[in-house]
Amino acid sequence: MNKKTVRDIDVRGKRVFLRADLNVPLDDGKITDDTRIRASLPTLVYLLENGAAVILASHLGRPRGKVNDALRLKPVADRLGRLLGRPVRMTGDALGPGVMTAVDKLRPGDMLLLENLRFHAEEEANEPAFATALADMADIYVNDAFGSAHRAHASTEGIAHHLPAVAGLLMEREVSALSRLMERPAKPFHTVIGGAKVSGKLEVLESLLSRCQAVLVGGGMANTFLAAKGHALGKSLVETDQLDNAVRIMTEARRKRVRFMLPTDALVAAQVHPRAQRQVVRVGEVPRDWSIVDIGPETVAAYTSHLDKARTIFWNGPMGVFEIAPFAEGTNAMARYIAERTPRGVITVVGGGDSVAAVDQLGLIDQMSHVSTGGGASLEFVEGKILPGVAALLDAGEGSAS
Ligand code: 3PG
Repeated sequence: MNKKTVRDIDVRGKRVFLRADLNVPLDDGKITDDTRIRASLPTLVYLLENGAAVILASHLGRPRGKVNDALRLKPVADRLGRLLGRPVRMTGDALGPGVMTAVDKLRPGDMLLLENLRFHAEEEANEPAFATALADMADIYVNDAFGSAHRAHASTEGIAHHLPAVAGLLMEREVSALSRLMERPAKPFHTVIGGAKVSGKLEVLESLLSRCQAVLVGGGMANTFLAAKGHALGKSLVETDQLDNAVRIMTEARRKRVRFMLPTDALVAAQVHPRAQRQVVRVGEVPRDWSIVDIGPETVAAYTSHLDKARTIFWNGPMGVFEIAPFAEGTNAMARYIAERTPRGVITVVGGGDSVAAVDQLGLIDQMSHVSTGGGASLEFVEGKILPGVAALLDAGEGSAS
């Protein structure tokens, strides 16, 4: 990575403002997936063990500048405490005199978790005075929040202009893995892309068509491409306003000689419900009142057989409505197949919230070369965009960070 990291800076005896992405899914106040918390541990532990006093900060959800009790970071503090084996103290706010008093008491090896940054509208507005106030708490800024690096907010971008700013270990791992994918993937480089909608993925598809040798499409977004080819798909989700874009993408793929594969069969259901009647049909034969909910076995066989040639595989987006167990077979089969390729020397990278959740459900996270903690951030990276949270950090070649 061409940015300085925590390893390039002396943190001993310093107060470090550590921005992590602890934005985890909650269900009725309970954390349903703590991947992001666990992924943030190496940097936190590194800083504490190296004698820094850590001011840890994150957002949670989208409270839109107002205090929202359901989005307090308390459950995160509890889970973090359990993982670290020590209690995690929290402040009642992200800023203010009480916070400063608590920060002043920090000693080397101590840590403090600030309350949800987004309770202040100034955070998302990247208000300079707010960024300065955050910076005033610390001597060094470490950004480990790859999942939020596509946001130019006060704690992800603004603050970096006021302190020596370096990347955390997770940020480094994410940027290195995704840069490799973008800059020098082992070829053939194949992408498996899914998810509900094509509209949010046009730019990523365009970027991938310039880099990959094959793009294999599944999930709801495949329907829009199939509809653009003239298939009637019953009640399946189709973005009718994206049909022209779908045709454009397929034409572009042909022009660039990129193999663009679409499902040939599908699991269809009478309702999107776990106990609904279901059957496998060819994509041209979807019953009028039924919907496509997964790719079919013939498609799985064709996709996995094509992927046999790949030396790099990038996967983004599920192949169907995988949250409903009977509709998860296509997604699970692809996840298992991709995981099996890793020990055979294939670089396997998974990005995007839902495909990561699918991999996690199957316990396959450790069997991929890299699983990104960033949903939107990993997509923007693959689109070729500059992430403001990364851009603001010190360049590797820049003078001493300490
Ligand atoms: C995410 O979950 O993608 C990040 O935490 C960013 O959250 P946001 O989309 O609300 O900015």
